[in-house]
Amino acid sequence: MTRRVVVLASGNGSNLQALLDAAADGRLGGRVVAVVSDRSDAHALERARAAGTPALALARHDGESRGTYDARLAEVVAPFEPDFVVLAGWMRILTMAFLGRFAGRVVNLHPALPGEYPGTHAVERAFADHLERGLDRTGVMVHLVPDEGVDDGPVLATETVRIEPGDDLDTLTERIHETEHRLLVTTLARLCTQEVRA
Ligand code: GRF
Repeated sequence: MTRRVVVLASGNGSNLQALLDAAADGRLGGRVVAVVSDRSDAHALERARAAGTPALALARHDGESRGTYDARLAEVVAPFEPDFVVLAGWMRILTMAFLGRFAGRVVNLHPALPGEYPGTHAVERAFADHLERGLDRTGVMVHLVPDEGVDDGPVLATETVRIEPGDDLDTLTERIHETEHRLLVTTLARLCTQEVRA
């Protein structure tokens, strides 16, 4: 049975694009059945529409609690019956009001290795450590999201990314993104083709 993937994305959506491309040419072993963003102006929504994939924006109301928003988000996602929900540049920390509905099925991408630079600006912080103390590697990880821990959870895949002496923030960011696009696709493909899901 073809696995059904819902992607949550807040911004540019280059990782979403990698998934859409892999689904289209059969490398994913699944299909992206919907894309949901918390921002109506997210470029990710345009990428979804261009691929003929349902694209929905769901903004948080003024004063709305995280839990109430996440319950609404779950109501939007659930009808698509996802086998996996992929957080690809999703900039909100999800509460159990969402995660409890999709236990064992939420997958996050983080532009650093396990336990390193949780939260935003992970690449910038790794590059600052390169300048300050000679850090010569960072990385990318894909992991399950069991709870509200930030960029933390059972690791599905990691890849180390070298920081070269001549790097600036742009060249490192580009190398991280290339790695993310590849690792997210291969990891999702592995999940989508497993008999029993993770
Ligand atoms: C990625 O680096 C992802 O790991 C991080 O936000 C970025 C999103 O990029 N959480 P894009 O929107 O997929 O281009």
